[in-house]
Amino acid sequence: KKSGERKPLMVLIAAPRGFCAGVDRAIEIVEKAIEKFGAPVYVRHEIVHNRFVVDSLKEKGAIFVEELEEVPDDMPVVFSAHGVPKSVPAEAKRREMIYVDATCPLVSKVHRQAERLIEKGKHIIFIGHAGHPEVIGTMGQVPEGQMTLVETVEDVATLPFTHEDKLSFLTQTTLSVDDTAEIVVALQARYPHIVAPKAEDICYATSNRQEAVKAMAPSCDLVLVIGAPNSSNSLRLVEVAERMGTTARLIQRASEIDPTWLDGVGTVGVTAGASAPEVLVREVVTKLGEWREVEESKIRTAEEKMVFKLPRQLMD
Ligand code: F3S
Repeated sequence: KKSGERKPLMVLIAAPRGFCAGVDRAIEIVEKAIEKFGAPVYVRHEIVHNRFVVDSLKEKGAIFVEELEEVPDDMPVVFSAHGVPKSVPAEAKRREMIYVDATCPLVSKVHRQAERLIEKGKHIIFIGHAGHPEVIGTMGQVPEGQMTLVETVEDVATLPFTHEDKLSFLTQTTLSVDDTAEIVVALQARYPHIVAPKAEDICYATSNRQEAVKAMAPSCDLVLVIGAPNSSNSLRLVEVAERMGTTARLIQRASEIDPTWLDGVGTVGVTAGASAPEVLVREVVTKLGEWREVEESKIRTAEEKMVFKLPRQLMD
C-alpha cells in the first residue's frame, strides 16, 4: 500500500443533495393512495427514477407498469412525478378510472406555460433530452407539431424557423444550468424576438444540487454521485463534477464502488440525485469506512425549505 492511503479518507458530503420536494410528494402520494384505496395501487412508470424507492413501494403494494393499458379499469393508478402527456389522464377519464397525478408541481407549471403560449399563437422550442419521460409529458401538452425539441447548441443552427415565426422557449426542469444557458444564448442570437419563460424552468432542486457539486468538486479527487442511469438530474451532477476537472462516478448503491477507485485518493465527495434517498448516502459512507478510516464533513451551499401540498383527493 502507498503511504498516502494510510491517511484518513476525507469524505465531503454535498448539501443540498438527495430528495427534492417533488420526489417527497410523489412517494407520499403512492403511500397515501395505498392507504386510501387499499393494495394494489398501480403506478404508471417508475414513480421516481430510483430502484430502491420503487422496490420499497412494491413491498407496500404498488404495481409498476409502463403504460395505462396495462392497468385494469377498476384499479387506482398514480402517474409519476415526471408528468404525462394529456392523452393519459384523458384516457383514464374515458375508462372511468380512479387516478392520482403525482406530477411535480414545478413540471405542471411548465405544462400550463406551454398551453398558454400555444393559446397566444406561439410555436415553442423546448430544450430537453429526447426520450426522457418529462419531455414526452411536456410535449404531450400541446397539439403535435407545435413544439420542437432542441438538445444542443448545434441543434439551434438547424431550426427551420424564420424571423416571421412567433417563437418562445421552455425547458425541462432537470437540465444542466450551464449547458442550458449556452443553448438559450444561441437561441436568442438566432431569434432575437424569441419569448423567454417568465421564470427559469430548471427547478430549484436541480440548480441547488449542481451548485453544491461545483463548490465541492475542486477539493475532491473523486466525486461519487448516487443516482440511477436514467435519472437526468443525477447525470448532470456527474457532468458538473467532471467539468471542474474531477473524476466522477454515478453509482446506484454502495456495492457498485470498486475499492481501486480509492487508490491515491485523499478526498471523496458524495452527493445524491433528487430521487435518491438519504439511506443510500449513509450506505456509501459506511462502505468507504470499511476500506479506510473516514473523516466526514459537509459542504452546504443552500438551505431548502420547499414542501408541496398533496392532491386534494388524498388529503382527507
Ligand atoms: Fe420537481 Fe425538480 Fe424534484 S422538478 S420532482 S423539484 S427535481
